[in-house]
Amino acid sequence: MPQYATLNASKANFDNIYDQPDPRGYFSVLGALDYMIPDVAQPIIRQILRARERRSGVPPAVLDIGCSYGINAAVHRFPLTFRRLRQRYANSDMAAVEPEDLARLDRNYYGSWPQVGGARFVGLDVSAPAVRYAVSVGLLDAGVIANCENGTPGPKDRETLRGTDLVLSTGCVGYVTERTFAAVLAATERPPWIVSFVLRMFPYEKIAATLGEHGLVTEKLAGATFVQRRFRDLNEFSSCLATLEALGLETGGLEAEGCFHAELFVSRPRADVEALPLGRMVTVASGRSRTVGTRYVRVGRGAETHVLRVPS
Ligand SMILES: C[S@@+](CC[C@H](N)C(=O)[O-])C[C@H]1O[C@@H](n2cnc3c(N)ncnc32)[C@H](O)[C@@H]1O
Repeated sequence: MPQYATLNASKANFDNIYDQPDPRGYFSVLGALDYMIPDVAQPIIRQILRARERRSGVPPAVLDIGCSYGINAAVHRFPLTFRRLRQRYANSDMAAVEPEDLARLDRNYYGSWPQVGGARFVGLDVSAPAVRYAVSVGLLDAGVIANCENGTPGPKDRETLRGTDLVLSTGCVGYVTERTFAAVLAATERPPWIVSFVLRMFPYEKIAATLGEHGLVTEKLAGATFVQRRFRDLNEFSSCLATLEALGLETGGLEAEGCFHAELFVSRPRADVEALPLGRMVTVASGRSRTVGTRYVRVGRGAETHVLRVPS
């Protein structure tokens, strides 16, 4: 099985936008390529977090591996989308704002939305500026700046990771391998659920085997893939198709149509899998985010529900 480093050679390199003081470069460069995995993953993540909360009775503590500027926390905790945030950060008047002024504006911005997701988020990323930004604007409760591919986190970081209930990642497996998952699992008090959206070009077997050593059973969601973004150019398109086909994967109807596709892997203790298999825990509803006209929405829980009319 090829190493991730070899497979990564076919993908475009975006390292320069991962370590800016704020997310403007991230949203403009990846937004221009229709990056959408936080948005398409979010309804699924919401269902899994609800199932986790039903299992334990408390809102889960999430660790977002490769959290970058806290985007998964933003789209889970607030009624926001990657697309909407892109409009904010790509606005021409925003381009002139100094990074420290932007952080102040963003603290107010995120603080002005109602919380729609109950989970608490801790982020782990190798990028110090991205993690610091996400903590400073209030998206993350805490951040771990570490590269667990090269070593184990220090005592303070292990303490931050200790209470993790669920480990999440979008767009990060490939940069991280089973080494990072092993380091995180070594720091947690009890085995967390692991929810990974993974590009099809990165085989998940080694990670699943490592998680298995910690008593976690991995399921892959059958019959669904999640678009991550468009290929940047012909070079990336051709080299990624060649990589996928060398792995024996059929690309017709998927990457051959011009976009990267990710799959969902969820790993949990066997008793949790037996109580509620992945195929019953999540439903993929295509088109949910594409409506533009007025919608009726039921909000609240149990006896406390009411119906809202959401204008277009
Ligand atoms: C494509 S971005 C994904 C960010 C975010 N999860 C999203 O979907 O918008 C990949 C992220 O992985 C981070 N990363 C790369 N190598 C890493 C490592 N060894 N450990 C932790 N994070 C890493 C990068 O800094 C970057 O923030």
